[in-house]
Amino acid sequence: MLTVEKANLHYGAAQALRGISLAAEMGKITCVLGRNGVGKSSLLRAITGQHPLSAGTVTFNDVKLDGMAPYNRAKHGIGYVPQGREIFPLLSVKENLESGYAPVKRSERFIPNEIFSLFPVLQSMLGRRGGDLSGGQQQQLAIGRALVTRPKILVLDEPTEGIQPSIIKDIGRAIKYLRDSTGMAILLVEQYLDFCRELADHVYIMDRGEIVHQGAAETLDTQEARRHLTV
Ligand SMILES: Nc1ncnc2c1ncn2[C@@H]1O[C@H](COP(=O)(O)OP(=O)(O)OP(=O)(O)O)[C@@H](O)[C@H]1O
Ligand SMILES: [Mg+2]
Repeated sequence: MLTVEKANLHYGAAQALRGISLAAEMGKITCVLGRNGVGKSSLLRAITGQHPLSAGTVTFNDVKLDGMAPYNRAKHGIGYVPQGREIFPLLSVKENLESGYAPVKRSERFIPNEIFSLFPVLQSMLGRRGGDLSGGQQQQLAIGRALVTRPKILVLDEPTEGIQPSIIKDIGRAIKYLRDSTGMAILLVEQYLDFCRELADHVYIMDRGEIVHQGAAETLDTQEARRHLTV
């Protein structure tokens, strides 16, 4: 299980996270909802090690991650799908997937077939340049690249952003499949309430750097959630 406790994060004098505490359990989909600029990506940067916390801790399966470099966190099983996908545009689809080899043992340096069953389009486009894929295909590639690292927790930053509905469905199916078949933890950051409600086991709502509401997905007060999601 991943736990974040009383996390503060600053960019210079500006505070982006204010005492955030949350947990993402193995075999569950945990969703963090919040509108633009409330600190969702900052939270994921703190978890993946791209920005230090100014107070608080991040723990994954009893290992304290504070101060650990991002590549070491990847070795501990943190898989990351960044906002905007961050595909290497000039590398092929195959090379993009292979960039996920860095944190894994030599014996595991192959692309699991499961990735092509989840996203067949990647197999048919292995030789194509990443930058020539559509937004939705790039999103599938970014998830595939994270899966190559054999994560124990998959952290996704707004995977539905700017993606057409049919691919959003495919991504939703893939996320559910990963939870049910591998037992990995999934931490999903979203602004898209319906996608989150359909997938999540547990929901947190963020506003201005704080968790303002949390609970089991089936008891989520949709009106309350919408209130925090509209400007
Ligand atoms: N590198 C940075 N330097 C200074 N301020 C930053 C930096 N990155 C983010 N911020 C600020 O921190 C706050 C939280 O930003 P963050 O990117 O975490 O929000 P978000 O919830 O992910 O938003 P979005 O939904 O638009 O992706 C915002 O006010 C933002 O302007
Ligand atoms: Mg963001």
